[in-house]
Amino acid sequence: MKILLLGKDGQVGWELQRSLAVLGQVLALNSRSQDYCGDLTNLLGLEATVRTFAPDVIVNAAAYTAVDKAESEREQAFRVNAEAVGVLAHVAAELGALLVHYSTDYVFPGHGSAPWREQDAVGPLNVYGESKLAGERAILASGCTCLIFRTCWVYAARGNNFARTMLRLASERDTLGVIDDQFGAPTGAELIADVTAHAIAGTRRNPALAGVYHLAASGETTWFGFARFVLEHAAARGEPLKVRAAQVNRLTTDAYPTPAKRPANSRLNTHKLQEAFALTLPDWRVGVARMLIEIHEK
Ligand SMILES: NC(=O)c1ccc[n+]([C@@H]2O[C@H](COP(=O)([O-])OP(=O)(O)OC[C@H]3O[C@@H](n4cnc5c(N)ncnc54)[C@H](OP(=O)(O)O)[C@@H]3O)[C@@H](O)[C@H]2O)c1
Repeated sequence: MKILLLGKDGQVGWELQRSLAVLGQVLALNSRSQDYCGDLTNLLGLEATVRTFAPDVIVNAAAYTAVDKAESEREQAFRVNAEAVGVLAHVAAELGALLVHYSTDYVFPGHGSAPWREQDAVGPLNVYGESKLAGERAILASGCTCLIFRTCWVYAARGNNFARTMLRLASERDTLGVIDDQFGAPTGAELIADVTAHAIAGTRRNPALAGVYHLAASGETTWFGFARFVLEHAAARGEPLKVRAAQVNRLTTDAYPTPAKRPANSRLNTHKLQEAFALTLPDWRVGVARMLIEIHEK
């Protein structure tokens, strides 16, 4: 199997380099790749890459993910998250390739407390969410065989992430306030990459499994709950912190204004994915605890 991986150095892309390797020959690109164009702002270059490599599977982990910046860079966000995705989908349909793509709970309006199901009405609150929804629609309109995974609150041991930021702030500052009225499940890039490889194998055997799926760790918390979990773990390991888990203050979204509006309810219902691919998605604490050990040992 020939697999084209775009966005190889992102949180999910990095883990996909590992998880896809067992499926076949992987050509992994980033925006600076030389031999093949992996830049999603270069639509002609991107199309040429797909036609030349002629993959059986395209996995697109590249995305414009700067949620606040997207409010003032609408064109760039739509170019990467929608137009480029449309190009990939169009060529995938022509070549008969499976297109794997990632989307977000930000396609939903974020009200209520029920976990969003795949068929629920969409209604993004910000430009990033609009651009990701446009990407989903471009794929579905192309008629290609696809797997679209909507995920949320992605973290990884590598690069900057919420857990690292909390550890740094708790060691530098005397007080720490974290938002406690947005709900979701921290979801590891490792988990997303492993599920992706499993689902690709399943969909290649049975193309009827193609479609849109919600992919997130089980359970739920708030950013405040996530922060407390991180600091409790750090304290248990004896890390010197000025702010202990029990001293973290709860903030409301209103008290922490950002350029992009964020949904209060990022919960995703993952029953469809678990049933279709006979998977069990572990509780969010399992992956976060593992990631904390990894970053501690670095
Ligand atoms: N992070 C989250 O909390 C979250 C939540 C829900 C859904 N998702 C979705 O999950 C997927 C993976 O996200 P992630 O967390 O792994 O994102 P990430 O760590 O921000 O990685 C995105 C990657 O895309 C690359 N990229 C940006 N513009 C590009 C361009 N023009 N051409 C080629 N590559 C480009 C970036 O490379 P450079 O750094 O070199 O620009 C980066 O490596 C995305 O589709 C995202 O929308 C993420």
